[in-house]
Amino acid sequence: NNQKDLKKRPPVVTIMGHVDHGKTTLLDRLRHTHVTEGEAGGITQHIGAYQVDIEGRLITFLDTPGHEAFTEMRARGADVTDIIILVVAADDGVMPQTIEAINHAKAANVPVIVAVNKIDKPGANPNHVMEQLSEYELIPEDWGGNTIFVNISAKTGQNIDEVLEMVNLQADILELKADPDRLAVGTVIEAKLDKGRGPVATLIVQEGTLHIGDPLVVGNTFGRVRSMTNDRGRRVKLATPSTPVEITGLNSVPDSADKFVVFEDEKTSRQVGEERAKRAELNDRQKAHRVTIDNLFDSM
Ligand code: GTP
Ligand code: NA
Ligand code: MG
Repeated sequence: NNQKDLKKRPPVVTIMGHVDHGKTTLLDRLRHTHVTEGEAGGITQHIGAYQVDIEGRLITFLDTPGHEAFTEMRARGADVTDIIILVVAADDGVMPQTIEAINHAKAANVPVIVAVNKIDKPGANPNHVMEQLSEYELIPEDWGGNTIFVNISAKTGQNIDEVLEMVNLQADILELKADPDRLAVGTVIEAKLDKGRGPVATLIVQEGTLHIGDPLVVGNTFGRVRSMTNDRGRRVKLATPSTPVEITGLNSVPDSADKFVVFEDEKTSRQVGEERAKRAELNDRQKAHRVTIDNLFDSM
């Protein structure tokens, strides 16, 4: 990449934390939406990808589930992100998935901003949260450390602006850049088979710009971008770096966390895609064969 081709890109910010500590409520507050109200049992069960424009500055947010069952999704969220907002409820304190999130952040080497939430509640004890997190090397600036802590209430909106300020500050420090003019590459956030539309994948573009009609290989499948919708369900024609989009037009459903690569022409992408699909199938067959042999030996 030529340095001069690089342009500033929005930060990708993943919101992590223990179940019900207020991650989705925080996002609802930022986006002026009501996602939490539509969730079954009030539990987030997938990764939501959203882009917010705050006074002309775009921020991409990934909302992860806090329920213990979704470790893999949290790891994935930590892997494609620039910054993590760790939400900790001030009345509940550090809990198992708080610690898990800290470990994902460390493994991915991503800076953490701590949002101590629910400070409107009578039982809130933000100081205790600071003490607890200090044991995990997240030491507040006030105490001589270098982790940013913000006390917030996602419910009342208290100090939400400060969280955004800190995100923007952190993003400036990281000097996030990408080349929007090259062929797009990025990562699958999630994918599914839709009855009417076929394979549908939520992608996050990391380099380049993705266009309608682009031939691409996604993990072990391939296709051509037939339609593209943004996080608000609106049809779009292109997606620039750090933008999440849902696309159709793939031959089969890719795996989450698969990488995607756009090719110059459809012929090459088809060749590469078919080869990868064949190799994956061979791998699967070999694995199945191995299992059969292992079972055979186990039973002897
Ligand atoms: P999972 O995605 O299931 O892990 O939960 P979550 O972290 O997204 O939490 P969610 O936003 O679903 O909020 C859980 C509950 O806490 C809801 O009833 C919210 O209304 C409530 N809540 C969230 N933020 C606050 C807050 O700042 N103050 C108070 N009092 N309640 C809050
Ligand atoms: Na919840
Ligand atoms: Mg949630």
